Amino acid sequence: MTQLTKILPISAIILDEEIYPRKGIDHRRVGIFAENIRDNFKFDPIEVEPVPGRPGKYRLLDGAHRWSAYKSTGTEKIKVIIKDLDGYDPLLYAATKAIGPKQLTEDEARATARRVYTKNSSLSSINIGKAIGRARRTVDTYIADLRAAIHMDMDIKVFRMNRLGIPQDRIAKRLGLVRTSLHYHLSKMAALPNSTNADLSRGFTIAQVAQKHGWTDPMVWSLALEDKDDLERFTKLDWGLRTWDLWQWSDCDKRFGDDWPGRIPAQLIAHILFYFSKTNDLILDPMAGGGVTPDTCLALNRRCWAFDMMDRIETRPEIEPCNWSLPSDEKLSWPISSKEKPDLIIFDPPYFNKKAGDYDKKSISGLSKKEYLEFLETFFVLLRHNVKKTTRFAFINADWRNFQNTPAAEEIYKGGILINDYLDILKKTGWYHTHIIQAPMSSQRFNAGVVSAMQKKRILGVTSRYVIILKQMG
Ligand SMILES: C[S@@+](CC[C@H](N)C(=O)[O-])C[C@H]1O[C@@H](n2cnc3c(N)ncnc32)[C@H](O)[C@@H]1O
Repeated sequence: MTQLTKILPISAIILDEEIYPRKGIDHRRVGIFAENIRDNFKFDPIEVEPVPGRPGKYRLLDGAHRWSAYKSTGTEKIKVIIKDLDGYDPLLYAATKAIGPKQLTEDEARATARRVYTKNSSLSSINIGKAIGRARRTVDTYIADLRAAIHMDMDIKVFRMNRLGIPQDRIAKRLGLVRTSLHYHLSKMAALPNSTNADLSRGFTIAQVAQKHGWTDPMVWSLALEDKDDLERFTKLDWGLRTWDLWQWSDCDKRFGDDWPGRIPAQLIAHILFYFSKTNDLILDPMAGGGVTPDTCLALNRRCWAFDMMDRIETRPEIEPCNWSLPSDEKLSWPISSKEKPDLIIFDPPYFNKKAGDYDKKSISGLSKKEYLEFLETFFVLLRHNVKKTTRFAFINADWRNFQNTPAAEEIYKGGILINDYLDILKKTGWYHTHIIQAPMSSQRFNAGVVSAMQKKRILGVTSRYVIILKQMG
């Protein structure tokens, strides 16, 4: 921790309740200090730190009573010590300082311990106790319920990631757990579903059980369908199985995946899994977005490694953060080292020129047509080098034509990116298609006014989307 002594205007200093360990200011004490100031008594400088996100403002770490007394006597500038806590919790530091002159009350100590632990659950009771002037055991009782809830939350995250077949070293890294803690959580995995299963057998619905136990719906489905085969699972999930190569649904199944730009129906993923993978196979989704692939894998008992540039550790710990598009002079690299390789890749990238504004700036959706196709080419090679000879590849993409402004008869050859352009790149990079399945997008996003204008101008719209299934030769 470093520090700097400075004279600051008193108006630049604030009392931030977030990091103040006491219930309130003791006005009697302020009155005594104010008298001392008038008598020219010299106090030690108060301690402050810069307020995050508010340049020029400082918040009190120590000396709230002295600061109040200075204000009440009309003092305009005071000497302060500006602290850099270097990552140390400011509330904990403020508590350590507060107990110097006067112990925290029972209420204040309990509230401070709970606030500090809620912000940073890796703090030990001993360290919290030292800061607030209480024994470890007392702190344990203050935070017992919070600790149990955090452990349960961690158990559920570990359970989900473990069920999806994510290797232990990656689970530990993703959840910030040391090996021993991970093993402690893993040791509870066999018994963890007991109460959930008990509620299922009592006839509660999936949604009720999920809500009661803090599980996601797909995890409860994964337990409820444990002994079922794929066909039975389709029936239970109410997914009518399509027998032909036209897969179309009017809506996404809201139980699987999050509301996400470019979300695809879980039914579509389920059909890819049904036809092109087996129970317990390992599925890779390199741009998993709202998580529809891992969710559907849970429902159909496949393992799944999912990645995306958007990191959502709290709600989607199973989607590991990864940005595939490196600056063009660097080579794309594979994010994991593992002997195990996927049996099936499901790749649903942002479609060209769509939703660029909805994703992160670094998303491939912001690329020019040339860059987008170059990215795909490099990426397909990268995939081939990092999977098995037998790995299947499901590539989902849509035709893109600039139809919004151009009557159909005026569109030019190579004016867009069509399915054959993708097929050319795929073949060039060693991927050969076995199936082209039509899975059109809904045209409902166009309202009647837009449709009528298109008809007047003889514009031919695009809803074509395809699932291209590929293999490598040999
Ligand atoms: C079409 S969305 C996937 C939607 C997903 N299948 C679903 O139904 O929720 C494409 C995803 O690609 C991700 N993405 C785009 N560029 C990326 C990159 N360079 N590296 C990693 N992820 C990227 C975006 O964040 C977005 O979530």
